[in-house]
Amino acid sequence: AKQQEALLTSRYNEPKLEKSEQDLWEESQTQKAGAIGGRQKKAIESDGYELLFDDQIDFVMQETREGYDKHESLSEMRPATEHEKILEGRTKLPVYAYREEFLAAVKEHQILILVGETGSGKTTQIPQFLNEVGYGELGKIGCTQPRRVAAMSVAARVAQEMNVRLGHEVGYSIRFENCTSPKTILQYMTDGMLLREILTQPDLASYSCMVIDEAHERTLHTDILFGLVKDIVRFRSDLKLIVSSATLDAEKFSKYFDDASIFMIPGRMFPVDTYYTKAPEADYVDAAVVTVLQIHVSQPLNGDVLVFLTGQEEIETAAETLSERSKNLGSRIPELIICPIYANLPSEQQAKIFEKTPSGARKVVLATNIAETSLTIDGICYVIDTGFNKQKTYNARSGMESLVVTPISQAAANQRAGRAGRTQPGKCFRLFTAWSFQHELEPNTVPEILRTNMGNVVLMLKSLGINDLLNFDFMDRPPADALIRALEQLYALGALNDRGELTKLGRRMAEFPLDPMLSKSVIVSEKYECTSEVLSTVAMLSLGASVFYRPKEKAVHADTARLNFARGGGGDHIALLRCYSEWAASDFSPSWCFENFVQVKNIKKARDIREQLAGLCDRVEIDHTVSNSDDFDATLKTITAGFFYNIAKLGRTGEYQTAKQHKTVYIHPSSVMAKEEEPPPWLVFFELTFTTKEFMRQVAPIKPSWLVEIAPHYYQETDIEDSKTKKMPRTRRN
Ligand code: CDP
Ligand code: MG
Repeated sequence: AKQQEALLTSRYNEPKLEKSEQDLWEESQTQKAGAIGGRQKKAIESDGYELLFDDQIDFVMQETREGYDKHESLSEMRPATEHEKILEGRTKLPVYAYREEFLAAVKEHQILILVGETGSGKTTQIPQFLNEVGYGELGKIGCTQPRRVAAMSVAARVAQEMNVRLGHEVGYSIRFENCTSPKTILQYMTDGMLLREILTQPDLASYSCMVIDEAHERTLHTDILFGLVKDIVRFRSDLKLIVSSATLDAEKFSKYFDDASIFMIPGRMFPVDTYYTKAPEADYVDAAVVTVLQIHVSQPLNGDVLVFLTGQEEIETAAETLSERSKNLGSRIPELIICPIYANLPSEQQAKIFEKTPSGARKVVLATNIAETSLTIDGICYVIDTGFNKQKTYNARSGMESLVVTPISQAAANQRAGRAGRTQPGKCFRLFTAWSFQHELEPNTVPEILRTNMGNVVLMLKSLGINDLLNFDFMDRPPADALIRALEQLYALGALNDRGELTKLGRRMAEFPLDPMLSKSVIVSEKYECTSEVLSTVAMLSLGASVFYRPKEKAVHADTARLNFARGGGGDHIALLRCYSEWAASDFSPSWCFENFVQVKNIKKARDIREQLAGLCDRVEIDHTVSNSDDFDATLKTITAGFFYNIAKLGRTGEYQTAKQHKTVYIHPSSVMAKEEEPPPWLVFFELTFTTKEFMRQVAPIKPSWLVEIAPHYYQETDIEDSKTKKMPRTRRN
């Protein structure tokens, strides 16, 4: 195949490392494709280059995705200032040509389904168009995004285009972060935030227009929003609703919104050649790295690379390996600019992915699913698709939710490939076989509402006064047993009474933008007089990222530092609490973080979250200053009061099993309890992630007697009896 023509061979022979602790630590967070590697050592010579890899990947070219409406390239004379350039860029976006037509359609219809390829300018331009013709004077113009990073970065871009300060006329709101002001006219927000806003503003009175963007993603929150806004537009005839989607299956949206009109923006697409690996790849992260280098040395420089991986850990590993390997290659290859992008990436680094690649260099963006449709990066013409993403899956029967690395759908793979053909013809390298694409990938992604724990939204809907959930107008009805499980769970937590109505506790829980198990813990902390400790713990748990920093070369020191927080017991929860408290006691000192291998940015974020939770405690009249720092058991009891579903018990075989469903689970290698000599007989865990095995993340030891004390409706003496009778002589088995 053509792209192989310039492949190189190796004097750079990377020693194959023994599987170290670090590998296991990382690997455990990355499910491997489970296939046998089909790579061979190969040396291909090319014009004077001598080769770099000890192995390379064979791809076969399979298909060309034909572009429609080919456009000439965008290189023309550019005006001088940065801002003028930006404005000129606006006029070149596909939506620009349809501005008048679109605005006329909005005038005519209350609800419009907008369809246009990713990158056509829907998210950044549509709210501006609406504002330019005066809708901003009637109320705010809102635009929802399924992802926090997208909301932030798009708002930043639009503020730049409008030449205003972010947070003034253009702002964003995401959970735990509000960057808006009374001046704000264009407000980007996550779909989850709009749901929360409906709680306090059931008719969305402050808005004149609402754009439900990225509707095709069908996130749980977007799906719930559909049902709510469909109702709101009935009694707010002045509210314009635009449902915008990047895929062509708009009919379904149209039908759901009472046959709303569809407005199509023809895309601008160049053909994309798709290549598949000849054999399955066992380690897709490594395969992705090799492919990046293969592209880098063999393909013309004017084209950046976009790699789809599943999460932060993988992206960090890939970034590290890539930078190491390209450093080793030194001046023999052009500069490679590595830009990671994932949900928890600090915002100043997010901007980097949009910076224009300097000539003589190539940019490689390592992204999660976020770059599939939410973010468009100009200049990409090579896409490397690992074929996986991380999805929440929920087993309604066991009531367990876990984050699983899952194969993507064919539709998603095609979206990803399309990212390569925005500005010129491109290439997409799929790290799976053509056979696998055809036979193993589902045609379409299953909407989140069909595979998730509904606890959170059920609580929200209940507090909106929507009692009859089974008859709520869902676009795709969640399975009845998932709804029933959610109701049961909320009942078990005490948020609902036996008639399914919200209790006083439930009403207070709904104030918190947290999973019901966490909000329950916060509220119970009042009873055990440890609110201050619980807030710190909950804030640290809610981060979604690790506060601990573990550079490879200092892994031993980092581990020692981390384990120091665990000294004195209490598992991960109390280690997180100690970490936070010690940092607070150091007066939030950055050098303290440095000495203790704590990531300053993340722990600062925890402090923000904590402050907001404290504010919400005021609202529900909980004194958040009440502290009981001598008794960590109080904190753990409180956590258990929220998480009594997440209990694991050590079996005779030395493995843990969940208390009720008897599912075998393991302590995650990143836990401070991972190497405990005497594993505690009972654990509470924060969440399950399935990677190579079903792992419990964030675990703490508990006393089984707490269970019957705290959750007597869920645990009876018989459930915990075993541990009491452990020392009794064994009865003979038949
Ligand atoms: O929403 P849609 O996918 O239709 O397009 P968009 O997100 O509005 O993107 C339009 C253009 O804005 C693209 O060319 C992006 O590269 C650019 N953009 C940017 O430069 N910086 C951002 N933070 C977001 C978009
Ligand atoms: Mg968009």
